[in-house]
Amino acid sequence: MSVADNIAYFTEENSAETVIDRMRDAPDRRLAEVMQSAITHLHAFVKETEPTMAEWEQAIGFLTATGQISDAKRQEWILMSDVLGVSMLVDTINSRRPSGATENTVLGPFHVEDVPHREMGSSIADLDEGEPLTVSGRVLDIEGNPVAGAAIDVWQASHDGFYDNQQPDVQPEHNLRGIFTTKEDGRYWYKAVKPAYYGIPNDGPVGQLLGGLGRNHMRPAHLHFIVSAPGFDTVVTHIFDGGDPYLTNDAVFGVKRSLISDFVQVDDAQKAGELGLPNPFWQVEADLVLAPANA
Ligand SMILES: [Fe+2]
Repeated sequence: MSVADNIAYFTEENSAETVIDRMRDAPDRRLAEVMQSAITHLHAFVKETEPTMAEWEQAIGFLTATGQISDAKRQEWILMSDVLGVSMLVDTINSRRPSGATENTVLGPFHVEDVPHREMGSSIADLDEGEPLTVSGRVLDIEGNPVAGAAIDVWQASHDGFYDNQQPDVQPEHNLRGIFTTKEDGRYWYKAVKPAYYGIPNDGPVGQLLGGLGRNHMRPAHLHFIVSAPGFDTVVTHIFDGGDPYLTNDAVFGVKRSLISDFVQVDDAQKAGELGLPNPFWQVEADLVLAPANA
């Protein structure tokens, strides 16, 4: 028997090689490369776990349900990628930066376009709820120089853990969102409310999976940022509340050590008065360091 005959007909031993050989004339070489790897790992996975026919049908049912619950507003596949750590892995591979630059983390599903620009120092909270918070820091390059003209697009969950677009009947549009632009000193600061930790949707197949694995569906409290400036690599990141109980148990693995900051409670009536905030209030400070584009 020739080598070609060895892989022409399917056996348990040569299963992956037989499937991969059929792609030898693929016009799309990148597709063939990706599928060769996928098939190699998928066949190895099946050989390692040896699913019963019933288990395989259950797996197909699970994937079918994941597709069926997804629509323009509910994306269960992204959620699946998130809870398996794949979204973070792809993001991390695609955002390697020189040391000292602010690290990326997941964009998440709640970012919206066309958010209003707000004046530096103003409040992004359009409702008088929750504990007041000031967020501040500098946008710097990796040499420590301030970056002027950086756009800082911020968004966050409310004091009870919901984004405005999850609660259109409760929160005004663009509540807890805004875009700020730095001046020559690179400084940014704005008023907000202390965000709460929140749960990702767990009423679908991903929730069932997490339940079956004994995993929680919570994300630790965080502030979202997209920081962009001409000549610099755009950063999509979070600042995490260093006191959050879910910090080491983020359902989507978004936490990186460098992104954790202390939220400090300030009890200073005079300072609160100067800021136009009730006393006490919370304060978090974090510099956002940009790497040069294409570094
Ligand atoms: Fe979030």
